[in-house]
Amino acid sequence: MQRGGRYEEMKNIVLTGFMGTGKTAVGKELARRLSMRFIDIDLEIEKAEAMPIRDIFAKKGEGYFREVEAEMIRKYSAEKNLVIATGGGSVLRDMNLAALRENGVVFCLTARPETIHERISRNDDRPLLAGDDRMQKITELLDARSPLYAQAGILIDTDDKTPLQVADEIMGIASR
Ligand code: S3P
Repeated sequence: MQRGGRYEEMKNIVLTGFMGTGKTAVGKELARRLSMRFIDIDLEIEKAEAMPIRDIFAKKGEGYFREVEAEMIRKYSAEKNLVIATGGGSVLRDMNLAALRENGVVFCLTARPETIHERISRNDDRPLLAGDDRMQKITELLDARSPLYAQAGILIDTDDKTPLQVADEIMGIASR
């Protein structure tokens, strides 16, 4: 991946991975360092639907959310010079990944279930993990999706690392 020329068109940097792996924090840091625009797909969905993701799931259902998510991914995948953080469920549709790869290099952030649990403990905006026994929900969902994450992109382990350290690691790979 070439980065350098000021007016050169750059491929997107795409971050995917399970909830709580740090996609947004790392994405913002990468965008800042590379002077690229940061797009958080979840945030774009919330803006377009004028409600939080929790409410989209509750009022319109997960199927509707996945349709809007796919559309948003298609829209931003067509652009360049972006750092894109996707929602953790973006890997559920092959078409999402195919679109993201067209103009982008995809990194998949990973973490242990315990790390994920700790990172999202103060947060209740994720409908798929709502309610009691979050650890069990995390483990089940992670188990079901792990083959998809394993093939989604360049794997970056985020356990025991800060977003700045993860950004460093991705910068190192991206500049090769
Ligand atoms: C989801 C992950 C969330 C959000 C929605 C569904 C998922 O994004 O898109 O709650 O299915 O894994 P984050 O990964 O940014 O939390």
